[in-house]
Amino acid sequence: MTFLIIYYMLFCLMFFEDISADEYPKFIYPDVFNDSKRDAFHYGTFPEDFIWSTATASYQIEGAWNEDGKGPSIWDTYSHEPGNIDNGYTGDVACDSYHKYQDDIDSMKALGLKYYRFSLSWPRILPNGTIDHINQPGIDYYNNLINALRDAGISPMVTLYHWDLPQALQDQGGWKNDEIIGHYKDYARLCFEEFGDRVGFWITFNEPWVTTILGHEFASMAPGIREPGTTPYIVAHNILRSHAEAYHVYDYSFRSKQKGKIGITLNSDYYQAADMNDPDTIEAAERAQQFVMGWFGHPVYKNGDYPEVMKETIARKSTQEGLSESRLPEFTENEKSFLAKTADFFGLNCYTTSYARSIRNPAGPLIPPSWSTDQDVFSWKSQNWPTSGSDWLRPVPWGVRRLLNWIKNEYDDPVIYITENGISTIDTANLHDQIRIDYYSAYLSEVLKAIDIDEVNVKGYTAWSLMDNFEWSRGYTERFGLHYIDFDSTEKTRIPKDSAAFYAQVIADNGFPASSVQSGFNAGFRTILLAICIVFAII
Ligand code: GAL
Repeated sequence: MTFLIIYYMLFCLMFFEDISADEYPKFIYPDVFNDSKRDAFHYGTFPEDFIWSTATASYQIEGAWNEDGKGPSIWDTYSHEPGNIDNGYTGDVACDSYHKYQDDIDSMKALGLKYYRFSLSWPRILPNGTIDHINQPGIDYYNNLINALRDAGISPMVTLYHWDLPQALQDQGGWKNDEIIGHYKDYARLCFEEFGDRVGFWITFNEPWVTTILGHEFASMAPGIREPGTTPYIVAHNILRSHAEAYHVYDYSFRSKQKGKIGITLNSDYYQAADMNDPDTIEAAERAQQFVMGWFGHPVYKNGDYPEVMKETIARKSTQEGLSESRLPEFTENEKSFLAKTADFFGLNCYTTSYARSIRNPAGPLIPPSWSTDQDVFSWKSQNWPTSGSDWLRPVPWGVRRLLNWIKNEYDDPVIYITENGISTIDTANLHDQIRIDYYSAYLSEVLKAIDIDEVNVKGYTAWSLMDNFEWSRGYTERFGLHYIDFDSTEKTRIPKDSAAFYAQVIADNGFPASSVQSGFNAGFRTILLAICIVFAII
């Protein structure tokens, strides 16, 4: 009898074990995001040719700020000005990658990376910003880096401009002065000439929104200019025209020989309408998306011109302010056709999400005009969402999937490379960064849903960042790295955090084939049970 009961129990267990992920969904943030339809973890693997990468930027890692003929950049100037950076930190030494780039490559090899996104320091190559004086040691440094990467089987993805403008050009007005367009074009051409035979991916600009708004409206980033209203629109205009020049130089003179791709990287939160039943709120969220991402995305990926909602709103407000023309500059017809469709891919930096609703300020023109107020949008983050080491960054995994879908629909299904995604912790030597593992798991799962379910054309993913580095105005107080660095030490050893092992595993598995691992386990488990049942049956 006992035998029979045990036999029956084992027999039942064989079937009981076969639990599908849908019946018992896994949630990464179970207390906050637990809607089975929206938030359940999505197992599976990424497309076979999917690109896994990590990113850094010159000013954030290189150090050697005045070595071997490098000219000063606006970030050298800005960080040396007391009060601009937390604790008075600077990027003078940073991760010392100018001398320790081989250590960076060793860390990448350990991760199993095949791609690496980094940026070139314009003033390291052209100390005055112009091609009148080329700094050969700067060229040599990047040649050494690129060659060492390739020797390690790692393909470079190179950003031409990640915010460190030569100070000499800032002294002439920087991005406000349209003479910069010619200088940027010369710089881009020189980089294609010098490095393009070994670089397959070019990114003209990293996050122009940051340069325009944080650099020229909020003054919280270099060059620290606070001129809301018109200046940010002029800055953006000149960046877009510079981007188009670089694209066409590449397209015309280098593409056929070098066979690379060129695009731009745009950043944006996903703007979620706070009330999906209110058309005014839905419109406000769309307006916010257009004012952040559409500002640059619409000209580059659509028709060479700004989104209608920006043109209409800013023109209307400018008239109310008594101006004879809009604060938003206009492109000529030639410029529009020169700028339209100037990217082979969409580079996306996405970290977080905001709620949005409409604000209509009756005081209108009395408030000094700015990009922030032009939108008539109030945006915020829910206090219920998980936190990070940065006040602007709360993990909201479902937002990245919605943003990817927004890009697909708005820009006619472009190839998308996620060129940055990651989370910060406050300065800590704790290597057990479960918070980062959770963030990457949850976001990657949503990216995979976008690919598998929504058919968004995402071809690559880049973790920000390879290692802790100079986090702009926060200095070293906020850490985004997969590797920890003690910035007080001279060695600056790159020490892997738990998240590095996690990311290495994701890369090795090309995603999360966990359900197959689980069902493989189940299959093995069931076979053993079956064997035991047979033995019992025989007895
Ligand atoms: C991005 C930027 C990076 C990095 C990251 C984390 O906006 O491109 O340089 O700092 O944010 O804040």
